[in-house]
Amino acid sequence: MRASIMGVGHFVPDKRLSNEDLEKMVDTSDEWITSRTGIRERRILEAGQGTSHMAARAAEKALEQRGMAASELDLIILATVTPDMPVPSAVSLVQKAINAENCWGFDLNGGCSGFIYALVTGAQFIDAGTHKKVMVIGADKMSSIIDYEDRDTCVLFGDGAGAVILEPSEDHACIIDAELHLDGDGAQYLHIEAGGSRTPASRETVEQKKHYVCQDGRTVFRHAVTCMADVSKRLLDRNHLCPEDIKFLIPHQANLRIINAVSKRLNLKPDQVITNIEKYGNTTAATIPIAMSEACQQGVLAPGDWLLLSAFGAGFTWGSILMKW
Ligand code: ACO
Repeated sequence: MRASIMGVGHFVPDKRLSNEDLEKMVDTSDEWITSRTGIRERRILEAGQGTSHMAARAAEKALEQRGMAASELDLIILATVTPDMPVPSAVSLVQKAINAENCWGFDLNGGCSGFIYALVTGAQFIDAGTHKKVMVIGADKMSSIIDYEDRDTCVLFGDGAGAVILEPSEDHACIIDAELHLDGDGAQYLHIEAGGSRTPASRETVEQKKHYVCQDGRTVFRHAVTCMADVSKRLLDRNHLCPEDIKFLIPHQANLRIINAVSKRLNLKPDQVITNIEKYGNTTAATIPIAMSEACQQGVLAPGDWLLLSAFGAGFTWGSILMKW
């Protein structure tokens, strides 16, 4: 028996923020954003609601798809960089919202690789035989940590959530192999300076806009391409698979140019790569489960298909998962 994905669902807010909207907010253009990132619009959660709201809706959809009651869950792992509040964990709020009264859970911060980290972590509880039903959620309200006066970052991100249910199974959507990495040297290139224990929130930190995402985009871009391609290639090689064996790469959706460069290095054709960045931008921990959920809804995944998931994010964190649908 192996940890297998038996249910999947996603949620995105209704409100759209288009490139044309951003043209009115900062010095940018639809042409620049589309050609440099592939993004046309993103979804924005309304003020007053937090990440847990989206995570709970995605969780409910995954439970509905599986035909399972929330009370059957043993564990929920929520990957996010935007918990509703520092304490308690956002998963506490999700557990209450969906009435998952018989489980424990925790938040996990793996940046944009959060879902990959959480999926591998959740699978360990199944493979150990100690848990039978584990929910893994990736959810982020990136609009809460983005400066909408900073054109370098505000065009890139959006809000959303995706969830999967892991159970032991012989022959369905099994996780076959995975490799995860962390390089703390990357912290200098992608971080939020204030609001944590080193520099708590103060009038000065707010005035200096230190609660927003700050990144060296070019450095992140370069590392993302190399790391995602290298780790994915190692997974294929050690499992004796060639590019043609892969039905789909489901990559983290940060920039279409990153996705295209990774696909090229892996010798994958465009129709082997799932992208939805055009509609949602970078929803951080949510990009991969949203893309997986949409692919599922579109009926393009068939039993036995080889899938490769890959992500790169703040930390730096990165990793890939090889699975059979
Ligand atoms: N509109 C118009 N011009 C812009 C914009 C904009 N929105 N943003 C930047 N520019 C300008 C820059 O100021 C620069 O101008 P200059 O040449 O006069 O200095 C020019 O465009 C080119 O800037 P670059 O940074 O070289 O542009 P690049 O092609 O690298 O694209 C981008 C920038 C899109 C940020 C890219 O580097 C990228 O996607 N990096 C990866 C970011 C990422 O993936 N982050 C995700 C991790 S988040 C997480 O883990 C939570």
